[in-house]
Amino acid sequence: MADTIVIFGASGDLTSRKLIPALYQLFVKGRLPEASRIVGVSRSDFEHQQWRDALRKTTAEFAGDTFDNAQWARFSETIFYQPGDITNPADFVALGGFLESIESGECGRVYYLSTMPQLYETAITNLGDAGLSDDSNGFRRVIIEKPFGTDLKTAKALNQSIHSSFREDQIYRIDHYLGKETVQNIFALRFANSIFEPLWNRNYVDHVQITVAEEVLVGRRAGYYDTSGILRDMFQNHLLQLLMITAMEPPASYDAALVRDEKVKVLHGIRRMTGGDFASDTVRGQYAGYLDEEGVPAESLTETFAVLKLYCDNWRWQGVPFYLRSGKGMSCRTTQIVIQFKQVPYVLFDDMPKPPIGNRLVIQVQPAEGIQMHFETKVPDSEMRTRTSTLDFSFQGTSGGKSLPDAYQRLLLDALNGDASLFARSDEVELAWSIIDPIIAAWKSPAAPPLHRYQKGLWGPDEAAVWMHQQHREWFDVCPVLR
Ligand code: BG6
Repeated sequence: MADTIVIFGASGDLTSRKLIPALYQLFVKGRLPEASRIVGVSRSDFEHQQWRDALRKTTAEFAGDTFDNAQWARFSETIFYQPGDITNPADFVALGGFLESIESGECGRVYYLSTMPQLYETAITNLGDAGLSDDSNGFRRVIIEKPFGTDLKTAKALNQSIHSSFREDQIYRIDHYLGKETVQNIFALRFANSIFEPLWNRNYVDHVQITVAEEVLVGRRAGYYDTSGILRDMFQNHLLQLLMITAMEPPASYDAALVRDEKVKVLHGIRRMTGGDFASDTVRGQYAGYLDEEGVPAESLTETFAVLKLYCDNWRWQGVPFYLRSGKGMSCRTTQIVIQFKQVPYVLFDDMPKPPIGNRLVIQVQPAEGIQMHFETKVPDSEMRTRTSTLDFSFQGTSGGKSLPDAYQRLLLDALNGDASLFARSDEVELAWSIIDPIIAAWKSPAAPPLHRYQKGLWGPDEAAVWMHQQHREWFDVCPVLR
């Protein structure tokens, strides 16, 4: 069946930088359903050809060496443009007419909302009112970008409003971290191997560190960022997603409903912070120079760095801290999950480091994707001195030198195929907000822990390291362990 992908916010950055290059790559690989069409919608007045020409430039830039003129010529014939204002219901009726004019017979549609978040609700209502969510003549699905609400109340209201036009199974809420190959590899690591499962619990794991460090600063997004802060921008979505996949139970089958059920159970188990926890179990920071960013108020207390210590109260993880950490202006770009195993119960060799370091499994999500296992080996030609050695697995080495596909390729394809496993469900999003909201509220209250300034290019404020030492633990502060 030929499908149509309708992109609202066609003239935006995401469309040209991510969506069209991803669709182009899927087309080149022959993975887009035959004769699929792409229709861009935004307020600008373009002719079809004008939009194609504009996209050609940006796609060539983002596709790099893999761009091919002949392929583009074929692909671009499937691209159309329809001017429309999301706030104008009549434009949705016109869009419906245009789609019918280019489609024939039964045809599935995916509507991608790549607009300002404030317009999601209006777009969805207008789609519903114009009859564009009616799936009697082919599937109708809607993909919604993040942020999904700004707190629990707005997320609930948004869910409610969407549900009056689309059923939950028609809704695909994006978290682009779930489209990353290495994140999906966590499923393989955990559920396609038997050697890790016996160790993946409170009996063997001391703690888990999930770090998403970014070298970049807030830059041109300062206006948005200052109202959001790092908990809304990174924790409610990406970090909690990584936590869910690391901590979830194996689902009964790899089916969207069952996978998401297991993820949601993790969020149910997260102990909600109360009282003194907000001060003792969190660290807040702001990089020096943030206040000079254009669009940031001089007295802003917005966090650009945060650490949360969370516990998951269930049989598998009782008492095991999950340290979630993210920051802008850090020493490098790295996203890693460190499973720190407990130390050996008794040190047999005099020359072993004391206390022993304990084994670590480092899952490096980006920039280079791979896994590293840390374990002790004997130093050759020593009596019985040990040192930490590593076993490395790099994805790059197994993909024939080709770079891994961008997350959007996988997510777009899954939405077209009706596989929602890598998208967030309504209860998942609401539960995530219910964990984050009280922390945001506490950080705005007089009882908030201090906001530490930190120098750019390091690992956040020194206080975060001191705080970790006080718990007799160390951050795994290593810039990409794999290259
Ligand atoms: C986005 C955040 O969701 O994720 C950005 O809004 C952040 O602030 C980005 O930079 C990080 O994504 P990635 O894929 O580069 O790690």
